[in-house]
Amino acid sequence: MDRSSAPRHRTRLAQSAIRLLYSATAGSLYDRVVVRGAFPLFGGHMPELLIEQGRAAADDAGAMPVLDMPVGTGVFAAPTALLHSGLVAGVDIAGGMVTQAKKTAEDSGAFNLSVVQADAHHLPFADDSFGAVVSSNGLQVIPDAKTALRELVRVLSPGKRLYLSVVTLPVGAALSRGSSGRLPVVLSSSAGIVDALIDSGLSVASVKRERLALLAEAVKPVRPNPELGRLAVTPAGEP
Ligand SMILES: C[S@@+](CC[C@H](N)C(=O)[O-])C[C@H]1O[C@@H](n2cnc3c(N)ncnc32)[C@H](O)[C@@H]1O
Repeated sequence: MDRSSAPRHRTRLAQSAIRLLYSATAGSLYDRVVVRGAFPLFGGHMPELLIEQGRAAADDAGAMPVLDMPVGTGVFAAPTALLHSGLVAGVDIAGGMVTQAKKTAEDSGAFNLSVVQADAHHLPFADDSFGAVVSSNGLQVIPDAKTALRELVRVLSPGKRLYLSVVTLPVGAALSRGSSGRLPVVLSSSAGIVDALIDSGLSVASVKRERLALLAEAVKPVRPNPELGRLAVTPAGEP
């Protein structure tokens, strides 16, 4: 293997490990251990706030479809779908999660939740297709979060919102804003996440921290304006 292909190889290996791990836990463990156990511990009221984000996304999208990526077991996407009159597309790379999310949709009567297996780095949707995009607790486990974020922005319709949540150990808060921006998402400060949203072309509307969870809303401008995002938000203090 030459030097230039080593990072791509590492990304592929990381991606395979992530896919296997989430597929293996999707059936019985994930909702019990992660959603009901770890999320409240690390994120305080994060589960309730994610349901709220889903409700806002369903409202915001109007008649347009909503994207939930990564959908996981569908535990948050199903309530969104029940509140939305149009289609909700759930995407996940792990086959086990896709199977479980389909089951969650069926069990909860959310027949407008359609789940597909796909990679966040190459979403199988046309530009500007969605009236809202929800991305809960995914960017910290996706190997190339910048590319994934660019994809989420690409498929979002101009004037519409991305609803983001990530769990981070914000050691980057101790660094200068410039250098903390180079850290992986899981170590990013609030300011680092805001910068990543702005760099992907969004205007940041709100940022909120709940313990280690950061929740943000960001708008895709109708006309791209690199200065717009920087005016919008001063991130709240780190926990
Ligand atoms: C912590 S879970 C979050 C799931 C759900 N949004 C939630 O909050 O419960 C992270 C999810 O990201 C998915 N994932 C990891 N890498 C991915 C990728 N490259 N493309 C799509 N999904 C990915 C995993 O399979 C897993 O379901």
